Amino acid sequence: MADNSTQKIRVVVSGCAGKMGKEVVKTAIADPQLQLVGAVDKCHTSEDAALVAGVGDSCQVGISSDLSETLIRTDAQVCVDFTHPDVVLSNTLSIIEAGCRPVIGTTGFSAGAMDDIAKALEAKGLGGMIVPNFAIGAVLLMKFAEEASKYMDHAEIIELHHNQKADAPSGTAIKTAEKMLEGLKASGQSKFGGTNGQEAETITGSRGGTYEGNLHIHSVRLPGLVAHQEVLFGARGQMLTIRHDSIDRTSFMPGVALACKKVMNLSGLVYGLEHVL
Ligand SMILES: NC(=O)c1ccc[n+]([C@@H]2O[C@H](COP(=O)([O-])OP(=O)(O)OC[C@H]3O[C@@H](n4cnc5c(N)ncnc54)[C@H](O)[C@@H]3O)[C@@H](O)[C@H]2O)c1
Repeated sequence: MADNSTQKIRVVVSGCAGKMGKEVVKTAIADPQLQLVGAVDKCHTSEDAALVAGVGDSCQVGISSDLSETLIRTDAQVCVDFTHPDVVLSNTLSIIEAGCRPVIGTTGFSAGAMDDIAKALEAKGLGGMIVPNFAIGAVLLMKFAEEASKYMDHAEIIELHHNQKADAPSGTAIKTAEKMLEGLKASGQSKFGGTNGQEAETITGSRGGTYEGNLHIHSVRLPGLVAHQEVLFGARGQMLTIRHDSIDRTSFMPGVALACKKVMNLSGLVYGLEHVL
């Protein structure tokens, strides 16, 4: 039988022993267009990535703690990162430095970090993606919220996640806020909640964090949750609520697989899955 493995996209998973990384390992093994060639994590080093992910059969890919060495040794074309906000910028720059295309799911980027990544990609002539939410339902929520913001200028975001999430607000909430502000500005307005009364917080933080354009974001952290978000719009005598729930991490995997394929033909930084759908 002909060996067509060389035509598969060579993928390394960074953060492969984490909740998301394990799902990505399963996806990379199952997808006929992808080939898992490397796996990186600070935990479970030297163990088989598939066994750690709970696949059942060994994939002969041992977990390494050295990202750069793994990318170069495996001649990786794409590296998917689901690690931690503290390390994601340096990981992404290492991925680009190794001549590999980053597909970044880790959230919690600082404002300047995306500029640094865009410049590094440009210098290497590579494409890369940063995707705050790979679930199609969440991408649609953002699109609908942007549209609604053209017509309803009183809105707040509530995002709800499991209690091990490091960053707040979520990357999805920030991206949703950006989109909603674009929608609001398209209608000639610049501020949400313009007719709200005078406010005084008797407990600091009660009104949540405030994004540009006076858009309030509230972050809930509880065990039992996965990743959820509501956008509430209010107007005289009516409410519109748009809600998305990821109840299982498999919800993100079609988007991750798609990004791994699409990034091969991109140039520069693409922020958000909607650009490759
Ligand atoms: N974009 C999306 O659609 C999406 C969806 C869910 C989660 N996330 C984000 O993905 C990230 C990971 O989430 P998770 O729930 O899988 O977290 P997790 O804590 O379960 O997994 C993170 C993994 O990264 C490893 N890690 C951390 N620092 C490392 C380092 N310096 N070197 C090597 N490995 C390191 C950890 O050992 C762990 O195995 C978070 O930022 C989360 O918000 C994004």
